Amino acid sequence: MNAIAIVPGTAGSRLVERSEPDVKNPDDVKLRVLGVGICGTDREEVSGGRAQAPEGRSELVIGHEMVGQVVAAGAGVSRVRVGDHAVFTVRRGCGQCASCGMGRSDMCQTGKYRERGIRGLDGYQTEYVVDQEQYVVRIPVELAAVGMLIEPLSIVEKACDEALRLQIVRRPDAATEPDWLVGRRCLVAGLGPVGLLAAMMLALRGADVYGLDIVDTEAARPQWLRVVGGQYIDGRKIPADRVLSVMGPMEMVIEAAGVASLEFNLLDALGLNGVYVLTGLPGGNRPLKIPGAQLVRQLVLGNQIMLGSVNAARGHFQMAADDLARARLRWGAHVDGLITRYPVAQFSELVGHAQPDAIKEVITWASA
Ligand code: BGC
Repeated sequence: MNAIAIVPGTAGSRLVERSEPDVKNPDDVKLRVLGVGICGTDREEVSGGRAQAPEGRSELVIGHEMVGQVVAAGAGVSRVRVGDHAVFTVRRGCGQCASCGMGRSDMCQTGKYRERGIRGLDGYQTEYVVDQEQYVVRIPVELAAVGMLIEPLSIVEKACDEALRLQIVRRPDAATEPDWLVGRRCLVAGLGPVGLLAAMMLALRGADVYGLDIVDTEAARPQWLRVVGGQYIDGRKIPADRVLSVMGPMEMVIEAAGVASLEFNLLDALGLNGVYVLTGLPGGNRPLKIPGAQLVRQLVLGNQIMLGSVNAARGHFQMAADDLARARLRWGAHVDGLITRYPVAQFSELVGHAQPDAIKEVITWASA
């Protein structure tokens, strides 16, 4: 079968031949891959950045945002049946710590986890994949065409869930209002697929959503944001440190831009007792000058939380699948508009140059 591989640490990708994996153990599930999204992490890997091949090998099959259809399952599998649509999660535990033992490798305590398509395990840009039942999430057939959005959405499901849980234990108003997000001003920074999915998720929860980026108001991403009820902030006209004075204080900020200077400046938009979650991974090592004393003073005097969040557990994938289904009921084909499909042969061209009109580029491996 075909697969797309990279040699970690070098630039470029190529189509390779791999033997088709089979169900060997009673808890194995085999998926025929339908589509796989391309994200910032893939782009970093293909340009020679953060990536690691499986032990003893030099090549890594790339891709971690997938959707597939079950074609075979071991005798002990009960979560999915042949014909079901499903996604596999990304991270695999270290086998040593309590978090991984509890199925929460997203909170691994040793740092020895592996990630399919990123770190030490082959990924999903290929025709068939096999993994254990504990990593599979069944999805409704209606999501077959958009299921690759579940992984990036799971990232913001986790980020928002963590932020809310923290607010519930420390803010008296959040502890007593089960739907605390309703009408709350929430800012999403960086309107790539993760940012737009965050805006969609917050809108579903009734929040008053603002999205900040530095593109023209009429560009595809701000337009997409407006349809889910979000208000666009052009960061070139209203930079992060002026959001508070122009738009008012934000109760929650979700960052998905991966630009270090912006990540610090966004603290200025956060209101008293607010929570700020960072999900973007800035590239490069350029030193950054920040007004450290002022930022720490603001955090302390404002009872604020600045929180880093990465990866997602099975439960967050489940939440993402539920929200994606709800979003499609509410906004219909608009949700599908996040995705633009390309054939396998176009991978290396796409990963090198993001398409200006596409929001999420997806490689089609088979038809749904
Ligand atoms: C993926 C996560 C992963 C993270 C760090 C992100 O692009 O979506 O699943 O944990 O990169 O490797």
